[in-house]
Amino acid sequence: DDGESTTSDGGGGGSEFDLVQEGTLTVCSDIPYPPLEFQDPDSPSGYAGFDIELMQNISDNLGLEMAVKDVGFDALQSGTIFASGQCDIGASAMTILEERKENLDFSDPYYDSLQSLLAPVDSGIQSIDDLSGKTVGVQQGTTGQRFAQENLPDDANDPQRFPSDGELWPALQAGNIAAILQDYPPNYVHAQDNPDFEIVQTFETNEQYGFAFPKGEKTQLREAVNEELQALRDDGTYDELYAEYFPE
Ligand code: ARG
Repeated sequence: DDGESTTSDGGGGGSEFDLVQEGTLTVCSDIPYPPLEFQDPDSPSGYAGFDIELMQNISDNLGLEMAVKDVGFDALQSGTIFASGQCDIGASAMTILEERKENLDFSDPYYDSLQSLLAPVDSGIQSIDDLSGKTVGVQQGTTGQRFAQENLPDDANDPQRFPSDGELWPALQAGNIAAILQDYPPNYVHAQDNPDFEIVQTFETNEQYGFAFPKGEKTQLREAVNEELQALRDDGTYDELYAEYFPE
């Protein structure tokens, strides 16, 4: 290697990708959302999780540094965070939705998810139908919020919206809400770590996560990310990370 490579496989410092900061992939994510993204003081980026490790591997393979920015999910999924020019890519367990495609472009899908209801074991709540007269917590702007609004019993209270799982989960532990309706992975982690809580119901919503890009911009980056994602599947890295973060 003469150190002068300018090929599209990463030697050019990413100048062809129109990056927020040259040579760095600036990854925006709403943290915490275990096991996809969470703080990790032992990691060089300060964060770990399935999304973060995929982004780190893709950055490495493109010859880029990775920087992680913790942003609000609602502003990420609506695309407004990209308008402020501070993110190259959203890696935030984001479900690919047709309506989100009005403001965002998505990578190929990289994870299949479903909705779930997390409740205290002694609460008597066995299903969504047991939420009559009760208040379920959801994260603002998520598919969980939407699912709750469409599927709660008529006499349930309006779902209480929280900016992130970092407020949602403590609210359940404090007894301020009766249950949490959100994607299976974070609820699974909470139940694993805390035997007083369990997932009482799951819902097959056929959700697929994708990495998000500002609509119509970063096309070359998106193509490169798709290629690298496929390379990580081909060389076994994807499966290793999957087994590490989704051990069940
Ligand atoms: N998959 C859900 C959605 O797209 C929730 C994602 C929340 N992600 C996060 N990092 N907080 O609406």
